[in-house]
Order: sequence, then C-alpha cells, then structure tokens
Amino acid sequence: MMTWKKSLGLGTAAMLLAASITGCGVVSNGDQAASGGKTEGGTQAAKKDDGKIVIGMSMDTLKEERWQKDRDIFSAKVKELGAEVKVLAADGNDATQLSQAEQLISQGVDVLVVIPHNAEASAPIVDKAHKEGIKVISYDRLIKNSNVDYYLSFDNVRVGEMQAQAIVEKAPKGNYVYIGGADTDNNAHMFKQGAMNILKPLAEKGDIKIVYEQFSKDWKPEEALKNMENALTANNNNVQAVVAANDGTAGGAIQALTAQGMTGKIPVSGQDADLAAVQRIAEGTQTMTVYKPINAIATKAAEMAVALAKGETVNADKKVNNGKIDVPSILLDPIAVNKSNLADTVIKDGFHKVEDVFKNVPKDQWPKK
Ligand code: GAL
Repeated sequence: MMTWKKSLGLGTAAMLLAASITGCGVVSNGDQAASGGKTEGGTQAAKKDDGKIVIGMSMDTLKEERWQKDRDIFSAKVKELGAEVKVLAADGNDATQLSQAEQLISQGVDVLVVIPHNAEASAPIVDKAHKEGIKVISYDRLIKNSNVDYYLSFDNVRVGEMQAQAIVEKAPKGNYVYIGGADTDNNAHMFKQGAMNILKPLAEKGDIKIVYEQFSKDWKPEEALKNMENALTANNNNVQAVVAANDGTAGGAIQALTAQGMTGKIPVSGQDADLAAVQRIAEGTQTMTVYKPINAIATKAAEMAVALAKGETVNADKKVNNGKIDVPSILLDPIAVNKSNLADTVIKDGFHKVEDVFKNVPKDQWPKK
C-alpha cells in the first residue's frame, strides 16, 4: 500500500470507511451488481482509502448460475484475507464493462480481476489499469492482445475434449451438431477446438459427419434453441448427437429436441453443472456436463489478488499466448460428470444437494449412500 494513504486525517478516514462499507453492499447484492453502473460511495475520495487493500472485480454478467457463485466465493475469500472488495457486472455490454472498470480504477483498487465479455474489446482495460500501476488478472476468460498480468482458468481445450468424448461414446456414428458459445469469448473457441480434436479424426474416418456448427450469441439459450431448430430443419431431424458448449446452450438445444419428440433419444453435452442441467442428467435428458469447481478458481483468484496487492510474487506454472504475450497462467482441472458420478462429484463437493439434483426422479433411483 502506498504510504500517503496512511497519512490521511481522521475525518477523512471515517468518511472512507463509510464508503468502503457501502462498497461491500454492492458485492453482496447480485441485482445491483448486475445492473448498476455505480459502486456506492464511488467518489474520488474512496480512492484515498483507509490503508486497506481493495480488490476490484469487473464481471461480464451474472446471468449464468455459476457467475453468482464466482462472485460470492471470491468476495468472501477476499474479505477473509482482510481486504475490501468491489464488484461490478456489465450485463453483457462492452462499453459498460469498460466504464465500470474505469470506475474501479479511479476508486483506487489495488488489483483488478476481470471476466471479460469480449476477449478483444477488453484489452484497453488492462492499459488503463497499468497506467495507474494496477495489476490485472484475467479470470476464467482470457483478455486477448493485451499485457494482462495473469490468466487463471480451467484447461478449456480439455473441457471441449471431455464434452465430445462423452458424446462419441454414446453415438460412435452419425450426424453431429455443434452448438457453440459466444464468438466474442475466447473460451468458446477453446471449447470448440477441444471438441474438434475428438470429432475431426472421426469425421475424416467417415464414422461421423458434422452437419451443423454455429456459435450462439452471448451464450444465450434462445440463440442455441434457434441454432438447434435450424440444424434439425436442415437435416430433416436426421441428427444423432449434439455437442453443446455449456448447460445454457444445452438447455436451448434440448428444448428444440423436445419439440420434435427427440429428447433423451440422442446424447447432448453441457458444461458448468448448473442445477437445471444436473437435474436433466439425473432424469436422462442430458448426457453430461463439465463440472469446474468454482470454489477452487474463486478462492485462488482471491489469494492471488491479495498477494499481488501486497507486492508478493505469484507462481503461475503455465504460459498461454494471448496474441501479444505469453501470459503467466494457472489452469485448473475440469471434471466430466454424468449420471454415474453425480454423487461422487457435484453432490460430494457440496456444489448441489442430492434432494435438489434428484428432485424429479423416483427415490429408488437416488444414489445409494
Ligand atoms: C464461459 C465459461 C463457462 C460458461 C460461459 C457462459 O466463458 O467458461 O463456464 O459459463 O462462459 O457464461
């Protein structure tokens, strides 16, 4: 921390304490964080804080279930480590995310954690933070073509491989549909790359045919629904397998299959272990999901951010090129989940409760303890 922060008068310190407490309120309120362009007490005065470390988190969205967990676990951990946290979510809008990041920077955060909506458009956030001496951690999604300091994520190519592998086991032959995520999200490209690592050789052998592949704007389930409808129409419903990039897009694809009486008849993948998706897995309408322990990434991010704020070094064992530099990276392991290991993964980890996951399934089919 800069020493001048410590030389502030008592009156100012009291005012700043009030500001940072209000700032915390933003964190614990998802709606406010999702729609609000402001952190309360976000005046220049907040910048000259009471000497406490302040970590900023700039999020794309809180729409998917997982992001609320990311925010809550991250915030709790930062506070446990004795620092303040300010979180803003941009509701999928690049300009909003840029201005929210500027707000956090001007409020004097010590480190900025960014989950970019747009891999490319978020690069200026890094420049602006660096101008103020603030380090930036790219969280879950990579900020491309920037000098971002660290990248903390999962092995996203592996995620795509797991998705395709699970579907290939169920449908070794036939017509394949790939329902991708947001074109603007670098992860969507890595998931697709991973899936194609598995599918392309099989297509070349002639076992399978990829009859349709499309990204789904902003990861929206309704976009995935439209894509799946188009895929079914274009192929007269002659489709044997669906690789969907996450649980939201899987939900959209399954809705389209339901309209054609095909639900549960062909395998569908997903990702995130959303409650709705693990319920579908228990019920047999979705084949698998990829569980990425949010506790692990959110806790790690909080520890990294606070360590960087204290001027400590952070070990990152991998490098991921973002188009400009090799970004020091930490990539955590994803876990493939299907009906047979629901109990040993998401339920065992406390990510979901057995009574929630198996809510719509007769009790005699629940996992034996
Ligand atoms: C990806 C993320 C996934 C999923 C998706 C939609 O970047 O890795 O877990 O949530 O965004 O938000």
